Amino acid sequence: MACVDWPAQTPERETGVEDNAIRDAAGAGAAPGVKITARDVDVHYGATHALKQVSVDIEDRMVTAFIGPSGCGKSTFLRCLNRMNDTIASCRVTGLIAMDGENIYDRRVDPVQLRARVGMVFQKPNPFPKSIYDNVAYGPRIHGLAVSRAELDGIVEQALRRAALWDEVKDRLGEPGTGLSGGQQQRLCIARAVATEPEVLLMDEPCSALDPIATAQVEELIDELRRSYSVVIVTHSMQQAARVSQKTAFFHLGHLVEFGDTAHIFTNPEDPRTESYITGRIG
Ligand SMILES: Nc1ncnc2c1ncn2[C@@H]1O[C@H](COP(=O)(O)OP(=O)(O)OP(=O)(O)O)[C@@H](O)[C@H]1O
Ligand SMILES: [Mg+2]
Repeated sequence: MACVDWPAQTPERETGVEDNAIRDAAGAGAAPGVKITARDVDVHYGATHALKQVSVDIEDRMVTAFIGPSGCGKSTFLRCLNRMNDTIASCRVTGLIAMDGENIYDRRVDPVQLRARVGMVFQKPNPFPKSIYDNVAYGPRIHGLAVSRAELDGIVEQALRRAALWDEVKDRLGEPGTGLSGGQQQRLCIARAVATEPEVLLMDEPCSALDPIATAQVEELIDELRRSYSVVIVTHSMQQAARVSQKTAFFHLGHLVEFGDTAHIFTNPEDPRTESYITGRIG
């Protein structure tokens, strides 16, 4: 695992608590090419200990796949990366997560701004009860990314094209997003997420509601996005992880068991639990 040099850590630190020493340490330790650094991340939901001492470097301009059996903590960890877990009352996150060397749980970080930089696509499509156009224009509007209607139109069209949805919706942009099919709704959510040009895109089983054609289109998009962004995808499909990712993280019972180059993880895993999972013996 490619690790940054990490200074000695205080055992009592807690995310969400401002701590200059930790933030400065993160700045000093950020390695080139690393977009997000996680160190000793623990997550509890009430008494449930969902993630245990997870440390990983998410690289820039690469696709990282999170794989592992149901309930192992993939979605939980993904949600840590843009503070979506803040919205779950019982959820407590400790440890350090830094983006470009800045602690994202610092009190001065606005979670709404953070989520524009770290976009997310959920397993279940969740379009807003608005038109197709307004779903995609929502982020650019609140973040002031367009100065004119023409510019906003251009952003909306480009985002819908990237999500492979433009041709299907260009003549009905004013209709409700919720009126689309499940697979179209998911591509709309992808368009909404890419419309703000996030630096990191988190995708939680984004293709589970898609047919093989739309899946292939989304995989192409992921490949295109990694030229500019860091992409993290949770998937239950080994084939998909092998096709789209350069790095793979295998989770099991709340532990990050193994992390490395996708080709290496799939052909020569170091840990017997990884091997059992990818060969279909656990899961
Ligand atoms: N909102 C929540 N409240 C309480 N417990 C939760 C919550 N979300 C997840 N958990 C628990 O945390 C653990 C990890 O769940 P998580 O959803 O991260 O797993 P996952 O690897 O994404 O699984 P799947 O592949 O089924 O989506 C599980 O034990 C789950 O029951
Ligand atoms: Mg999940």
